[in-house]
Amino acid sequence: MNRIITLDEFIIRRQKDFPFASGELSGLLRDIGVAAKVINQEVNKAGLVNILGMNGSENASGEDVAMLDVFANDRMKEFLQTSGECAAIASEEEEGFIRIDQIEGKNSEYLVVFDPLDGSSNIDVNVSIGTIFAIYRRKSSSNGPIELEDFLQKGSAQVAAGYVLYGSSTMLVYTTGKGVNGFTLDPGIGEFCLSHPNIRIPQKGKYYSLNQGYYRSYRPGVQAYLKHCESVGIGLRYIGSMVADVHRTLIKGGIFLYPETKSNPEGKLRLVYECNPMSFLVEQAGGIAITTGLTRVLEEKPTGLHQRKTIIIGSPDMVNKAAGLIKENVLVNFE
Ligand code: AHG
Ligand code: MN
Ligand code: MN
Repeated sequence: MNRIITLDEFIIRRQKDFPFASGELSGLLRDIGVAAKVINQEVNKAGLVNILGMNGSENASGEDVAMLDVFANDRMKEFLQTSGECAAIASEEEEGFIRIDQIEGKNSEYLVVFDPLDGSSNIDVNVSIGTIFAIYRRKSSSNGPIELEDFLQKGSAQVAAGYVLYGSSTMLVYTTGKGVNGFTLDPGIGEFCLSHPNIRIPQKGKYYSLNQGYYRSYRPGVQAYLKHCESVGIGLRYIGSMVADVHRTLIKGGIFLYPETKSNPEGKLRLVYECNPMSFLVEQAGGIAITTGLTRVLEEKPTGLHQRKTIIIGSPDMVNKAAGLIKENVLVNFE
Protein backbone atom coordinates (compact mmCIF):
# COMPACT_ATOMS: atom_id res chain seq x y z
CA MET A 1 0.00 0.00 0.00
CA ASN A 2 1.66 3.26 -1.09
CA ARG A 3 2.05 6.00 1.48
CA ILE A 4 -0.49 8.83 1.22
CA ILE A 5 0.88 11.95 -0.53
CA THR A 6 -1.07 15.04 0.48
CA LEU A 7 -1.57 18.04 -1.82
CA ASP A 8 0.68 20.20 0.37
CA GLU A 9 3.48 17.62 0.27
CA PHE A 10 3.09 17.20 -3.49
CA ILE A 11 3.20 20.96 -4.11
CA ILE A 12 6.34 21.34 -2.01
CA ARG A 13 8.03 18.34 -3.70
CA ARG A 14 7.17 19.77 -7.16
CA GLN A 15 8.46 23.22 -6.21
CA LYS A 16 11.91 22.05 -7.29
CA ASP A 17 10.48 21.88 -10.86
CA PHE A 18 10.79 25.64 -10.80
CA PRO A 19 14.42 26.51 -10.18
CA PHE A 20 13.63 30.10 -9.33
CA ALA A 21 10.56 29.26 -7.26
CA SER A 22 10.70 30.97 -3.96
CA GLY A 23 7.54 29.33 -2.64
CA GLU A 24 4.93 31.97 -3.54
CA LEU A 25 3.18 29.78 -6.12
CA SER A 26 3.25 26.83 -3.73
CA GLY A 27 1.74 29.02 -1.02
CA LEU A 28 -0.97 30.24 -3.37
CA LEU A 29 -1.91 26.69 -4.46
CA ARG A 30 -2.08 25.61 -0.83
CA ASP A 31 -4.34 28.57 0.02
CA ILE A 32 -6.68 27.65 -2.85
CA GLY A 33 -6.72 24.07 -1.51
CA VAL A 34 -7.82 25.35 1.92
CA ALA A 35 -10.53 27.57 0.39
CA ALA A 36 -11.77 24.52 -1.52
CA LYS A 37 -12.10 22.53 1.72
CA VAL A 38 -14.13 25.32 3.31
CA ILE A 39 -16.41 25.64 0.26
CA ASN A 40 -16.76 21.85 0.20
CA GLN A 41 -18.00 21.89 3.80
CA GLU A 42 -20.82 24.26 2.86
CA VAL A 43 -21.64 22.51 -0.45
CA ASN A 44 -21.95 19.19 1.36
CA LYS A 45 -24.60 20.51 3.74
CA ALA A 46 -26.26 23.02 1.39
CA GLY A 47 -29.61 21.29 1.85
CA LEU A 48 -29.44 21.69 5.63
CA VAL A 49 -28.36 25.28 6.01
CA ASN A 50 -30.17 28.17 4.41
CA ILE A 51 -27.81 28.50 1.48
CA LEU A 52 -29.82 27.07 -1.40
CA GLY A 53 -31.65 29.22 -3.89
CA MET A 54 -30.89 32.59 -5.44
CA ASN A 55 -29.72 35.71 -3.68
CA GLY A 56 -31.72 38.04 -5.91
CA SER A 57 -28.78 39.79 -7.61
CA GLU A 58 -27.24 39.48 -11.09
CA ASN A 59 -23.52 39.09 -11.90
CA ALA A 60 -21.43 40.86 -14.54
CA SER A 61 -22.59 38.32 -17.10
CA GLY A 62 -26.20 39.23 -16.39
CA GLU A 63 -26.89 35.89 -14.73
CA ASP A 64 -28.86 35.30 -11.53
CA VAL A 65 -26.54 34.65 -8.60
CA ALA A 66 -27.12 31.72 -6.25
CA MET A 67 -26.43 32.07 -2.52
CA LEU A 68 -23.74 29.39 -2.83
CA ASP A 69 -22.09 31.44 -5.64
CA VAL A 70 -21.76 34.29 -3.13
CA PHE A 71 -20.52 32.02 -0.34
CA ALA A 72 -17.89 30.41 -2.58
CA ASN A 73 -16.86 33.80 -3.96
CA ASP A 74 -16.47 35.25 -0.45
CA ARG A 75 -14.33 32.30 0.69
CA MET A 76 -12.04 32.47 -2.36
CA LYS A 77 -11.62 36.23 -1.84
CA GLU A 78 -10.99 35.80 1.90
CA PHE A 79 -8.25 33.18 1.45
CA LEU A 80 -6.58 34.97 -1.45
CA GLN A 81 -6.69 38.38 0.24
CA THR A 82 -4.96 36.97 3.32
CA SER A 83 -2.56 34.72 1.40
CA GLY A 84 0.18 37.31 1.01
CA GLU A 85 1.05 35.66 -2.32
CA CYS A 86 -1.67 37.26 -4.47
CA ALA A 87 -1.56 40.78 -5.91
CA ALA A 88 -5.09 40.88 -7.37
CA ILE A 89 -8.06 38.70 -8.24
CA ALA A 90 -10.86 38.56 -10.80
CA SER A 91 -14.02 36.53 -10.36
CA GLU A 92 -17.13 35.66 -12.34
CA GLU A 93 -19.06 37.24 -9.46
CA GLU A 94 -17.13 40.56 -9.48
CA GLU A 95 -17.67 43.28 -12.11
CA GLY A 96 -14.02 44.39 -12.09
CA PHE A 97 -10.74 43.02 -10.75
CA ILE A 98 -9.81 43.57 -7.11
CA ARG A 99 -6.35 44.75 -6.08
CA ILE A 100 -5.04 43.17 -2.86
CA ASP A 101 -3.06 45.27 -0.38
CA GLN A 102 0.44 44.08 0.34
CA ILE A 103 0.91 42.13 3.53
CA GLU A 104 4.04 43.05 5.49
CA GLY A 105 5.17 45.01 2.45
CA LYS A 106 5.47 41.81 0.41
CA ASN A 107 5.21 42.53 -3.31
CA SER A 108 3.38 39.61 -4.95
CA GLU A 109 3.70 38.85 -8.64
CA TYR A 110 0.66 36.56 -8.95
CA LEU A 111 -2.94 37.16 -10.04
CA VAL A 112 -5.76 34.66 -9.59
CA VAL A 113 -8.90 34.44 -11.75
CA PHE A 114 -11.73 32.14 -10.74
CA ASP A 115 -15.25 30.94 -11.22
CA PRO A 116 -16.10 30.35 -7.57
CA LEU A 117 -18.98 28.04 -8.26
CA ASP A 118 -19.46 26.50 -11.69
CA GLY A 119 -22.74 24.81 -12.55
CA SER A 120 -24.92 26.92 -10.26
CA SER A 121 -28.09 25.66 -11.96
CA ASN A 122 -27.31 22.26 -10.42
CA ILE A 123 -26.93 23.39 -6.80
CA ASP A 124 -30.54 22.93 -5.71
CA VAL A 125 -30.84 19.48 -7.31
CA ASN A 126 -27.70 18.01 -5.72
CA VAL A 127 -25.80 17.52 -8.98
CA SER A 128 -21.99 17.97 -9.14
CA ILE A 129 -20.69 21.54 -9.19
CA GLY A 130 -17.18 22.96 -9.09
CA THR A 131 -14.72 25.81 -8.68
CA ILE A 132 -12.34 26.79 -11.52
CA PHE A 133 -9.13 28.83 -11.03
CA ALA A 134 -6.07 30.00 -12.92
CA ILE A 135 -2.91 31.83 -11.87
CA TYR A 136 -0.96 34.39 -13.93
CA ARG A 137 2.21 36.35 -13.27
CA ARG A 138 1.62 40.11 -13.52
CA LYS A 139 3.01 41.73 -16.69
CA SER A 140 2.91 45.37 -15.54
CA SER A 141 5.95 46.69 -13.70
CA SER A 142 5.94 45.60 -10.08
CA ASN A 143 6.39 49.07 -8.70
CA GLY A 144 3.11 50.25 -10.24
CA PRO A 145 -0.49 49.15 -9.58
CA ILE A 146 -1.96 46.00 -11.13
CA GLU A 147 -3.75 46.93 -14.37
CA LEU A 148 -6.69 45.36 -16.25
CA GLU A 149 -4.27 44.31 -18.98
CA ASP A 150 -2.59 42.00 -16.44
CA PHE A 151 -5.83 39.98 -16.46
CA LEU A 152 -6.23 39.98 -20.24
CA GLN A 153 -3.19 37.84 -21.00
CA LYS A 154 -3.64 34.91 -23.37
CA GLY A 155 -4.36 31.56 -21.72
CA SER A 156 -0.94 30.38 -22.90
CA ALA A 157 0.53 32.68 -20.22
CA GLN A 158 -1.15 30.80 -17.35
CA VAL A 159 1.32 29.73 -14.66
CA ALA A 160 -1.13 27.25 -13.12
CA ALA A 161 -4.78 26.22 -13.53
CA GLY A 162 -7.12 23.81 -11.85
CA TYR A 163 -10.58 22.95 -10.66
CA VAL A 164 -12.30 21.51 -7.63
CA LEU A 165 -15.17 19.10 -8.31
CA TYR A 166 -17.73 18.75 -5.52
CA GLY A 167 -19.11 15.38 -6.67
CA SER A 168 -19.54 11.89 -5.23
CA SER A 169 -16.11 12.68 -3.79
CA THR A 170 -14.40 16.07 -3.76
CA MET A 171 -11.41 16.30 -6.08
CA LEU A 172 -8.84 18.98 -6.83
CA VAL A 173 -7.13 18.67 -10.23
CA TYR A 174 -4.37 21.11 -11.25
CA THR A 175 -1.41 21.73 -13.51
CA THR A 176 1.58 24.06 -13.33
CA GLY A 177 2.55 23.22 -16.91
CA LYS A 178 4.28 19.95 -16.08
CA GLY A 179 1.38 17.50 -16.41
CA VAL A 180 -1.94 17.13 -14.59
CA ASN A 181 -2.45 15.57 -11.15
CA GLY A 182 -5.67 14.81 -9.27
CA PHE A 183 -6.22 14.76 -5.50
CA THR A 184 -9.21 13.36 -3.64
CA LEU A 185 -10.32 14.86 -0.33
CA ASP A 186 -10.13 12.36 2.52
CA PRO A 187 -12.73 13.76 4.96
CA GLY A 188 -11.26 11.58 7.71
CA ILE A 189 -8.00 13.55 7.76
CA GLY A 190 -9.24 16.70 5.98
CA GLU A 191 -6.50 16.45 3.37
CA PHE A 192 -6.50 16.29 -0.44
CA CYS A 193 -4.55 13.09 -1.22
CA LEU A 194 -2.90 12.19 -4.54
CA SER A 195 -5.32 9.78 -6.24
CA HIS A 196 -4.85 10.44 -9.98
CA PRO A 197 -1.13 10.97 -10.70
CA ASN A 198 -0.17 12.20 -14.19
CA ILE A 199 -3.64 12.22 -15.77
CA ARG A 200 -3.56 11.58 -19.55
CA ILE A 201 -6.71 11.99 -21.65
CA PRO A 202 -7.55 8.95 -23.82
CA GLN A 203 -7.16 9.47 -27.60
CA LYS A 204 -10.92 9.04 -27.92
CA GLY A 205 -13.96 8.29 -25.76
CA LYS A 206 -17.50 6.95 -25.75
CA TYR A 207 -19.32 10.23 -25.10
CA TYR A 208 -19.85 13.63 -26.62
CA SER A 209 -21.10 16.37 -24.29
CA LEU A 210 -23.12 19.48 -25.21
CA ASN A 211 -26.59 20.89 -24.77
CA GLN A 212 -28.49 18.93 -27.42
CA GLY A 213 -31.47 21.21 -26.84
CA TYR A 214 -29.80 23.93 -28.90
CA TYR A 215 -29.28 21.60 -31.91
CA ARG A 216 -31.24 23.84 -34.28
CA SER A 217 -29.08 26.79 -33.17
CA TYR A 218 -25.79 25.12 -34.03
CA ARG A 219 -23.89 25.83 -37.24
CA PRO A 220 -23.97 23.12 -39.94
CA GLY A 221 -20.47 21.86 -39.09
CA VAL A 222 -21.44 21.25 -35.44
CA GLN A 223 -24.70 19.61 -36.53
CA ALA A 224 -22.69 17.39 -38.92
CA TYR A 225 -20.46 16.31 -36.00
CA LEU A 226 -23.50 15.44 -33.86
CA LYS A 227 -24.90 13.40 -36.75
CA HIS A 228 -21.51 11.65 -37.04
CA CYS A 229 -21.61 10.78 -33.31
CA GLU A 230 -25.10 9.36 -33.73
CA SER A 231 -24.06 7.33 -36.79
CA VAL A 232 -21.14 5.66 -34.99
CA GLY A 233 -22.94 5.16 -31.67
CA ILE A 234 -21.09 7.76 -29.56
CA GLY A 235 -23.40 8.48 -26.60
CA LEU A 236 -24.43 11.82 -25.12
CA ARG A 237 -23.53 12.72 -21.54
CA TYR A 238 -24.27 16.29 -20.39
CA ILE A 239 -24.39 17.36 -16.75
CA GLY A 240 -24.62 21.12 -17.25
CA SER A 241 -21.64 21.83 -14.98
CA MET A 242 -18.58 22.47 -17.13
CA VAL A 243 -16.25 21.17 -14.41
CA ALA A 244 -18.11 17.83 -14.18
CA ASP A 245 -18.45 17.42 -17.96
CA VAL A 246 -14.80 18.27 -18.62
CA HIS A 247 -13.59 16.09 -15.71
CA ARG A 248 -15.41 13.06 -17.16
CA THR A 249 -13.95 13.92 -20.59
CA LEU A 250 -10.44 14.17 -19.09
CA ILE A 251 -10.64 10.86 -17.22
CA LYS A 252 -12.64 8.70 -19.68
CA GLY A 253 -11.94 10.49 -22.95
CA GLY A 254 -14.61 12.25 -24.98
CA ILE A 255 -15.44 15.72 -26.25
CA PHE A 256 -17.19 18.72 -24.67
CA LEU A 257 -18.61 21.49 -26.83
CA TYR A 258 -20.24 24.83 -26.11
CA PRO A 259 -20.72 26.33 -29.60
CA GLU A 260 -22.39 29.61 -30.49
CA THR A 261 -26.17 29.61 -30.09
CA LYS A 262 -28.80 32.23 -30.95
CA SER A 263 -28.92 33.39 -27.31
CA ASN A 264 -25.11 33.25 -26.95
CA PRO A 265 -23.62 34.13 -30.39
CA GLU A 266 -20.07 34.12 -28.87
CA GLY A 267 -20.75 30.95 -26.87
CA LYS A 268 -21.81 30.97 -23.20
CA LEU A 269 -18.61 30.07 -21.37
CA ARG A 270 -16.23 32.79 -20.26
CA LEU A 271 -12.74 32.76 -21.78
CA VAL A 272 -10.76 34.01 -18.78
CA TYR A 273 -12.06 31.85 -15.94
CA GLU A 274 -13.73 28.87 -17.64
CA CYS A 275 -12.34 28.15 -21.14
CA ASN A 276 -8.68 29.05 -20.53
CA PRO A 277 -8.11 27.10 -17.29
CA MET A 278 -9.86 24.01 -18.67
CA SER A 279 -7.96 24.29 -21.97
CA PHE A 280 -4.60 24.51 -20.16
CA LEU A 281 -5.46 21.37 -18.14
CA VAL A 282 -6.73 19.35 -21.11
CA GLU A 283 -3.74 20.29 -23.29
CA GLN A 284 -1.39 19.37 -20.45
CA ALA A 285 -3.11 15.96 -20.32
CA GLY A 286 -2.58 15.45 -24.08
CA GLY A 287 -5.93 16.77 -25.33
CA ILE A 288 -6.96 19.62 -27.65
CA ALA A 289 -8.97 22.81 -26.99
CA ILE A 290 -10.17 24.99 -29.86
CA THR A 291 -12.91 27.50 -30.61
CA THR A 292 -15.57 26.79 -33.26
CA GLY A 293 -13.46 29.18 -35.37
CA LEU A 294 -10.81 26.38 -35.20
CA THR A 295 -8.34 28.61 -33.33
CA ARG A 296 -6.46 27.37 -30.24
CA VAL A 297 -8.33 28.65 -27.15
CA LEU A 298 -5.07 29.43 -25.33
CA GLU A 299 -4.00 31.77 -28.15
CA GLU A 300 -7.18 33.87 -27.98
CA LYS A 301 -6.41 37.38 -26.64
CA PRO A 302 -9.12 38.27 -24.08
CA THR A 303 -10.86 41.61 -24.66
CA GLY A 304 -12.62 41.70 -21.29
CA LEU A 305 -12.80 39.84 -17.95
CA HIS A 306 -16.19 38.34 -18.78
CA GLN A 307 -15.80 37.83 -22.52
CA ARG A 308 -17.49 34.68 -23.76
CA LYS A 309 -15.83 32.24 -26.16
CA THR A 310 -16.96 29.08 -27.97
CA ILE A 311 -15.10 25.90 -27.06
CA ILE A 312 -14.56 22.37 -28.34
CA ILE A 313 -12.31 20.47 -25.93
CA GLY A 314 -11.27 16.87 -25.30
CA SER A 315 -9.72 13.77 -26.89
CA PRO A 316 -7.55 14.51 -29.95
CA ASP A 317 -9.30 12.08 -32.33
CA MET A 318 -12.73 13.51 -31.50
CA VAL A 319 -11.80 17.21 -31.54
CA ASN A 320 -9.98 16.73 -34.85
CA LYS A 321 -13.04 14.97 -36.32
CA ALA A 322 -15.30 17.84 -35.22
CA ALA A 323 -12.83 20.39 -36.61
CA GLY A 324 -12.75 18.53 -39.95
CA LEU A 325 -16.54 18.61 -40.28
CA ILE A 326 -16.68 22.28 -39.30
CA LYS A 327 -14.07 23.04 -41.98
CA GLU A 328 -16.02 21.02 -44.60
CA ASN A 329 -19.26 22.85 -43.78
CA VAL A 330 -17.93 26.35 -43.31
CA LEU A 331 -19.48 27.62 -46.55
CA VAL A 332 -22.94 26.18 -45.83
CA ASN A 333 -25.28 29.13 -45.15
CA PHE A 334 -26.16 29.66 -41.55
CA GLU A 335 -29.63 31.19 -41.62
P1 AHG B 1 -21.84 29.00 -14.00
O1 AHG B 1 -22.73 28.23 -13.08
O2 AHG B 1 -20.49 29.32 -13.40
O3 AHG B 1 -22.52 30.20 -14.59
O4 AHG B 1 -21.47 28.04 -15.22
C1 AHG B 1 -22.50 27.37 -15.86
C2 AHG B 1 -22.03 26.97 -17.22
C3 AHG B 1 -21.21 25.70 -17.24
O5 AHG B 1 -20.91 25.18 -16.00
C4 AHG B 1 -22.05 24.71 -18.01
O6 AHG B 1 -21.26 23.96 -18.89
C5 AHG B 1 -23.01 25.61 -18.78
O7 AHG B 1 -23.20 26.76 -18.00
C6 AHG B 1 -24.33 24.95 -19.01
O8 AHG B 1 -25.06 25.86 -19.82
P2 AHG B 1 -26.50 25.42 -20.42
O9 AHG B 1 -27.40 25.31 -19.22
O10 AHG B 1 -26.85 26.54 -21.36
O11 AHG B 1 -26.31 24.12 -21.14
MN1 MN C 1 -19.09 28.51 -14.69
MN1 MN D 1 -20.06 30.32 -11.64
